[in-house]
Amino acid sequence: MDNERRIVLTGFMGVGKSTIARHLASILQTGKIDLDSVIEAREKQTIAEIIKTLGMARFRQIETENLRKILAENHAQILALGGGAWTIAENRRLIKTQNCTTIWLESSFEHCWRNIKSSKRERPLAANKTLTQKLFDERQNFYCLADWHFIVKPDLTSYEIAKKIAEEVFLIKFD
Ligand code: S3P
Repeated sequence: MDNERRIVLTGFMGVGKSTIARHLASILQTGKIDLDSVIEAREKQTIAEIIKTLGMARFRQIETENLRKILAENHAQILALGGGAWTIAENRRLIKTQNCTTIWLESSFEHCWRNIKSSKRERPLAANKTLTQKLFDERQNFYCLADWHFIVKPDLTSYEIAKKIAEEVFLIKFD
């Protein structure tokens, strides 16, 4: 694995993409960028506000525009996506044409749901447990298209998962 290669983290809401991205960037001493944070900073609204005011379809357009811009202009090595970004064919195409390595942070629905519920972040797509579970089930078919799959077990910390990724993907040895 080329140590300069860009890593894209995907996975369901609440799996811990942003935190794992932060730890991985710190372990690798490299830059990281979070697609949703870039969108919020550029649009000067939270993702929840964008979805509420402009609608889901427009949010997806904004997401793709920002992903395209980041891939073309930003050189941070670790990119954390929002949970729906990888499910959009155009986004997967953009990521693949940039020769990135994609990692699916895979976890049980219950683990994601617990994190969603304990987080202060408003997630319009996770308002109701039954519908969120349905979304989770439907998305497995897309997430599994990622190059690597890492199981996020509830007993592992985000740092431990980032360490596993560094060991297995970047072949970094820890004492
Ligand atoms: C979404 C996930 C969110 C955010 C938006 C849509 C989704 O990101 O991009 O609310 O479709 O799963 P997180 O996965 O960081 O919560």
